[in-house]
Amino acid sequence: MADIASIHSIRLREMTRDDLPILFEQQLDTEANYMAAFTAKDPTDRQAFDVHWEKVLADKGITIRTILFDGQVAGSVLCHTWGGEPEISYWLGKEFWNKGIATQGLALFLKVVTARPLMARVAKDNIASIRVLEKNGFTLSGEGKWYSNARGKEIEELVWIRRS
Ligand SMILES: CC(C)(COP(=O)(O)OP(=O)(O)OC[C@H]1O[C@@H](n2cnc3c(N)ncnc32)[C@H](O)[C@@H]1OP(=O)(O)O)[C@@H](O)C(=O)NCCC(=O)NCCS
Repeated sequence: MADIASIHSIRLREMTRDDLPILFEQQLDTEANYMAAFTAKDPTDRQAFDVHWEKVLADKGITIRTILFDGQVAGSVLCHTWGGEPEISYWLGKEFWNKGIATQGLALFLKVVTARPLMARVAKDNIASIRVLEKNGFTLSGEGKWYSNARGKEIEELVWIRRS
């Protein structure tokens, strides 16, 4: 892949409430939900989305950034500690996929969030997300099973860790 960052601009900035309508549209996509697997029960429920994001934005323990691609809102990346350890997660609008944006966005985010170790949980068949983690220095640390709202059943999940 060409070095996308040399042709286009990929940046992070603080998230604002103005980003939420775009993020809501992005998280409606069926294929994205299938990939991410551990998603909202009903992605079309705007009220539940708003309640969730109000909680996220108010939580001082969460670091969250909007990913900008040539100034457009491409998606988001965040780090929470809901499971005890700092854990990251990210989501891009479909029109921004497969351009290296998540890989570069996470690389930038790892300079913002310096806590280590850092965890990530991924559906075992989410190849794109696994590549994003591998290219950012995460290694496989475990696996398990977790209920997937998007797939309506328990599925295999991989746990990845970045130690330094
Ligand atoms: C997962 C996701 C963030 C990847 O973002 P992205 O910007 O497309 O990723 P990149 O362009 O940086 O690509 C990373 C790698 O995945 C590969 N890839 C991208 N889309 C792919 C797909 N649909 N299937 C298989 N591989 C894919 C790329 O070719 C690249 O691999 P390479 O470096 O070996 O060439 C994006 O698809 C997404 O937001 N999906 C929905 C939400 C989600 O799954 N979030 C992660 C939850 S753990």
